[in-house]
Amino acid sequence: MKNIRHQFPLLKNYKDLVYLDNAATTQKPQSVIKTVTQFYQRQNANVHRGAYKLSDTSSRLYLQAHKTIADFIDAREDEIIFNSGATEGINTLAYSLCKDIDSKSNVVITQMEHHSNLIPWAEMAKRKGFGLRVIPFDHQSQALDLDALDTLIDENTKVVSIIHVSNVLGVISPVDAIIKRARAVGAYTIIDACQSVAHMPLSMKALDCDFCVFSGHKIYGPTGIGVLYGKRALLSKMDPFMYGGGMVGMLTDDSIAWNDLPMKFEAGTPNIAGAIGLAAAVEFLQEIGMDVVKEHSISLTKYAVEALGSVSGVRLYASSAQRMGVLPLSVTGVHSHDVASVFDSENIAVRSGQHCATPIVRSFTEEGIVRASVAVYNDEKDIDRLIIALEKVKKMFKV
Ligand code: ALA
Repeated sequence: MKNIRHQFPLLKNYKDLVYLDNAATTQKPQSVIKTVTQFYQRQNANVHRGAYKLSDTSSRLYLQAHKTIADFIDAREDEIIFNSGATEGINTLAYSLCKDIDSKSNVVITQMEHHSNLIPWAEMAKRKGFGLRVIPFDHQSQALDLDALDTLIDENTKVVSIIHVSNVLGVISPVDAIIKRARAVGAYTIIDACQSVAHMPLSMKALDCDFCVFSGHKIYGPTGIGVLYGKRALLSKMDPFMYGGGMVGMLTDDSIAWNDLPMKFEAGTPNIAGAIGLAAAVEFLQEIGMDVVKEHSISLTKYAVEALGSVSGVRLYASSAQRMGVLPLSVTGVHSHDVASVFDSENIAVRSGQHCATPIVRSFTEEGIVRASVAVYNDEKDIDRLIIALEKVKKMFKV
């Protein structure tokens, strides 16, 4: 892991930068930047549309990117749909799965959801009149409270959509137990893997969820590219949500047949460079090995939790929870944005505020939370710098 930082041009350009905002977006390795640049310099053409060599090359690379992602998450290549990110993935599912839902039905999420896995369901619930139920976070046990799971997820539950790792707390959801209960009542299951996929190996077969979404920019890939995984049998019978070119198999005056998977859900010219860049990011991770990446995230998170625990006047939220990669904290009496500004003056980048996840943040505090989040290029020295910066905050604000 020692040489990894050198593979990231931005980190080489800003040698003093301690980048700890990886839950928002990660920096990009040279291999990803080179792949995207090379695509535009040597391979750019639209996919599935041209009978010439360049189009053939870009189509081949684009299809290969589906396969690379499929191998990475233990799925089939026709189960990988490229889109703009997890937000689009969840909106697609919310529209498609709730199309014919009746008002007696319900959808279940958790209190830890990012707005992208809350608002699409809340809006659909408003339009269709069905219930939106929330698995609460228990502050005592610092985990999702599954005591009422069997009542929350019942015979009328159509969809259970849950965050895998909280973007605010880093707390890992008990996805196996929730998926098992959802399966028992025949509900569709969706996993938001945005904050887990960069930190641990994921197998769709082992998870056995029906759908899974994540964004490429959080796993060292370009912005504007994301993945929607769906079980082939379900994607085959699910209606598309976006209509246009590329997703049509046969069109006559009075009928339309959808294209094969995954094109059926990839209407319009896709983000070809993004998909190929994301495949390069996945190859970068595979070269390190996801087991090594996971070990690094666990040990660095543990180091940070211990270090933060020794600083008086600093609160680490859900301090004893089972967590991955994310450190949510506050300094007594100091607003989260002020803490982040002082960190910035020390060249340390973190996120502060509500983190697009107000239900879980507000369950802890109205003041917002400071969030440090790690990646493969961070090390213990970065955490040590964070601790020194915290002492500066305390001195400035007389904590
Ligand atoms: N969803 C990203 C975050 O949590 C932007 O910061």
